[in-house]
Amino acid sequence: MIEVKNLKKSFDGQTILQNVNFTVNKGDSVVIIGGSGCGKSTLLRCLNRLIVPDEGEILFEGKNILDKKTDVDLFRRKVGMVYQQFNLFEHLNVMENMILAPMKVLKMSEKDATERAEELLKKVGMENRRYRMPSALSGGQKQRVAIARTLMMQPECILFDEPTSALDPTMVDEVESVIRRLVDDGMTSVIVTHEMRFAEKISSNILFLAEKGIYEEGPAEQIFHNPKRELTRQFVYRSRMFNRKVTRRDVDLLSLNSELKSFAMPYGLNRKQTLGISYILEEILMPILQIEEVNDASVSLICDESGSGHKLIIECEGYKADTELAPEFDDMGRLLARNFTQSIDYYVNATGNWEVTYVL
Ligand SMILES: Nc1ncnc2c1ncn2[C@@H]1O[C@H](COP(=O)(O)OP(=O)(O)O)[C@@H](O)[C@H]1O
Ligand SMILES: [Mg+2]
Repeated sequence: MIEVKNLKKSFDGQTILQNVNFTVNKGDSVVIIGGSGCGKSTLLRCLNRLIVPDEGEILFEGKNILDKKTDVDLFRRKVGMVYQQFNLFEHLNVMENMILAPMKVLKMSEKDATERAEELLKKVGMENRRYRMPSALSGGQKQRVAIARTLMMQPECILFDEPTSALDPTMVDEVESVIRRLVDDGMTSVIVTHEMRFAEKISSNILFLAEKGIYEEGPAEQIFHNPKRELTRQFVYRSRMFNRKVTRRDVDLLSLNSELKSFAMPYGLNRKQTLGISYILEEILMPILQIEEVNDASVSLICDESGSGHKLIIECEGYKADTELAPEFDDMGRLLARNFTQSIDYYVNATGNWEVTYVL
């Protein structure tokens, strides 16, 4: 359906993408992943000509959309786009948002447009809120409306640019389920996401962008479990890692605790591990932050899929103790930490900071 050939794009003399080649077939769900700033949005925007590439071809059903003769409006109707920031009209209610473009652009009658809108709102579970203003909706609900609105134009393909990254973690799932249902129904999709578990489940093919192009391409099984190249390996590893800096003054234990747990949840988190995280934060991290020499601490969680245990790491900036003088070194604390963990490892790392790793 879409064929990208030798695409190149630069901004201000700086090459962002070059030598990009890939194909999206009808019914595919192609997922694009990669570090921040690597050109994912740029590539997606090239696909519906919001950005014009410097070189290359983009064929849509065999026709080059970069051709001067191509009817851009017609083409854009066939390729919908869903943005991170929803882009609903704030002064229009849900129904008005839904029917505006189809009436204007497709010349649908209000009656037909409303009927179709009812149907699509039902599909995304928003039929009870058809007359609400966007400001009265949660982020997840806004995004579901934005997706339904895109469907109003009867696109043949939808491009999603990080559709869940502006959402509160509790709302990610409802939006992912809607996208998943569309894909299962055969909607051709290109999805940029930083939710790796979602990428793994939904993709027919994954493009990993790095070094100004497609660095590695393949099915989820290859990219996530058997990457062929080094940067892919590193990226996938980092994506399983949660990291947060905390200081004595700004530490918010409850929120850190729940963030850690929601991050680890998709990888599996049993009761003992859950308790272990809470315990270590309260009984180890907090006392550590009270130590005069500790400027701040960094808390990392590296999630494991193989069942050998998640690693919770606390690194203390500015604390140069040798391992024997570990700050949480008191018998009671140690005993309790042992109870919740498979192993504990103290370590002075390459930067000279003291750190401790708990395998949960
Ligand atoms: N309109 C623009 N003008 C200049 N530079 C841009 C523009 N859009 C994106 N860039 C730059 O191109 C690079 C890739 O951006 P983007 O595609 O948004 O990355 P990603 O979506 O992967 O985070 C970034 O370095 C960004 O600053
Ligand atoms: Mg982007």
